[in-house]
Amino acid sequence: MLNLRSVHQADKRYAEMLDRILDEFRAISGMPPVIARNAGILISSPNAQVYYHADLPGQSLWQIRGVKRVYVYPPVAPFLTPEKIEGIILSGVEVNMEYAPWYDDYAVVADLQPGEMMHWPLHSPHRVDNHDCLNVSLTTEYWTDPIRRTVMMNCGNAVLRSKLGITPRSDAITGPGFWAKAALQAGVKRAGLLSKGRTASRPITFRLDPARPGALIDTPQNAG
Ligand SMILES: [Fe+2]
Repeated sequence: MLNLRSVHQADKRYAEMLDRILDEFRAISGMPPVIARNAGILISSPNAQVYYHADLPGQSLWQIRGVKRVYVYPPVAPFLTPEKIEGIILSGVEVNMEYAPWYDDYAVVADLQPGEMMHWPLHSPHRVDNHDCLNVSLTTEYWTDPIRRTVMMNCGNAVLRSKLGITPRSDAITGPGFWAKAALQAGVKRAGLLSKGRTASRPITFRLDPARPGALIDTPQNAG
């Protein structure tokens, strides 16, 4: 699977398209202003899978070529629990979420055809099975102030639960309790306590060889 990240930074035509998409979203849904956005192009093999996971920002998936089956699960327990979302924040990795095959009975399942797109509730877990064909898809992401606050609240709760052994009782994203968590997560982030393992979790194992199209060069940690 090739994941071409942040294509809107590489070519301003993608940035303009992304802005048009998000403007239309706002016009239709009345959602708050977008404070950050991202777009990536996924190129994946026939029958490739993306395992069960959830993403922190608002997300949409746009199918360009090929067909993929997308399973979207409700963003409530047991599919998504506070512990699961806190795990994503603490590890910096979206995968490794607990999944059981019976979850599929509760999923919205769609075979996404070229020209079709899917959007789902914030933090809804999902997984993807490519049909037996090459797939090209666009992912778009956005952050609004409420989404940012939701992640800050979950991050504060993650610190309470994992570092201090306190079970969080609130998911408020306003008020004094929220701001205490915002300060807590900011302090912990500044101290680097959340970063352990985050960079190591996605090691760079190869790079493309500019002299030989299609060839990969192992990076030193992977060589030998
Ligand atoms: Fe995702």
